[in-house]
Amino acid sequence: MKKPCVVLGVTGSIAAYRAADIAHRLVKAGCEVHCILTKSAQQLITERTMETMSGQPCITDMFAPPKQWEVEHIELAKRADVFLVAPATANFVGKMASGIADDMLTTTVMATKAPVLVALAMNTNMYENPVTQKNIAYLRSIGVRFLEPIEGDLACGTVGKGHIPETDDIVRATLDAMEEQRQPKDLTGLTVAVTAGPTREPIDPVRYITNKSSGKMGYAIARAAQLRGARVLLISGPTALEAPAGVEMVRVESTKDLLDALLPAAEQADIVVQAAAPADYRVAEVAPQKIKKQDGEPFVLTLTENPDVAKAVGENKRENQVLVGFAAETQAVRANATRKLDKKHLDFIVANDVTKPGAGFDVDTNIAAFLDHDGIEELPLMTKDALAHRILDRALAVLRAKQAR
Ligand code: PMT
Repeated sequence: MKKPCVVLGVTGSIAAYRAADIAHRLVKAGCEVHCILTKSAQQLITERTMETMSGQPCITDMFAPPKQWEVEHIELAKRADVFLVAPATANFVGKMASGIADDMLTTTVMATKAPVLVALAMNTNMYENPVTQKNIAYLRSIGVRFLEPIEGDLACGTVGKGHIPETDDIVRATLDAMEEQRQPKDLTGLTVAVTAGPTREPIDPVRYITNKSSGKMGYAIARAAQLRGARVLLISGPTALEAPAGVEMVRVESTKDLLDALLPAAEQADIVVQAAAPADYRVAEVAPQKIKKQDGEPFVLTLTENPDVAKAVGENKRENQVLVGFAAETQAVRANATRKLDKKHLDFIVANDVTKPGAGFDVDTNIAAFLDHDGIEELPLMTKDALAHRILDRALAVLRAKQAR
């Protein structure tokens, strides 16, 4: 079986020495690693070192006689399952963002269709320079992934953000990207709508009611669906998370906003997964000005019920449409979730007991159970990414069964 292939581009940062360890660790993890050194990188680490650590010929010169393949940059670009550039300088990012292909690395990265992962390392001021930031933002918008530099001592003698990320993080992100590549494209041609995050219900111009949802669960589902080939519509409450690349995202604030955004999205969707935690109540009368302290008197807020978004989507459910809801419970998980299944016209519900360690709000893992009228399937603790795939596997199976009827 062909080993997964990483092309590792190394540019002229003092952190180039770390590329040797990265190459070695990727080889140990079972990858075939081909290194390309820029001219500046060769001032900081040798071709011989990278060849020894990767076990493959290292490529440095566009016009040198080919070492392995006739048209080396094209063959490498095709061969890559993941293209990693570590460390990546401001100069490299600038060239990539401008479409400059004037050496072996920039030419090969331009020719690849593999996911590109860029681990930044540079002086803080260079990193913060608006030109660099604009280049990063542009490349992000076309799907290039970045591993942000970390705070640390820099070669120039200053301390600041610019240090290459930890080797562990670079290797893990590369292996994760590899794993993603292996996903089947079984949602191609389907539209998946996903809700994520909390909502905010205003009290006055500066205060609001919200909850602990980080959006991690919903974003993981959106990312997984996108990787599996779906068109993804993500409706997100306020979160600190970045929009997953390739996903169409609408940001909303309140539960009513969520309803307004989800209804048209659900009309287009074959599968709707509602992982958001919309507030069940809003303030009956939002104060037009900041509310002042009440001189020690109790302060009473009157709340009024918000629309049930999932119920509204359920009432408009189409034939051959799959609706998946979540149930965030702190007690009587099964009984409460079953009630929601019927009330919201859901095909199945993902119940999570949000009091369990490693489950629920603002963690990277979850412990869930799938529940429908045929019974319950308890799942072990797993990452939200892994759970996202399990949810989509099940939703797709339900959809196919409906279509076959
Ligand atoms: O975002 P994270 O930090 O990763 O946390 C993930 C999560 C805990 C938020 C997620 O796993 C989860 O459980 N989401 C559902 C939260 C919730 O609102 O549960 P609920 O039991 O109150 O609602 C049941 C279902 O109805 C949910 O699909 C919810 O999106 C929906 N709902 C709820 C209230 C409302 N007014 N309208 C709705 O549509």
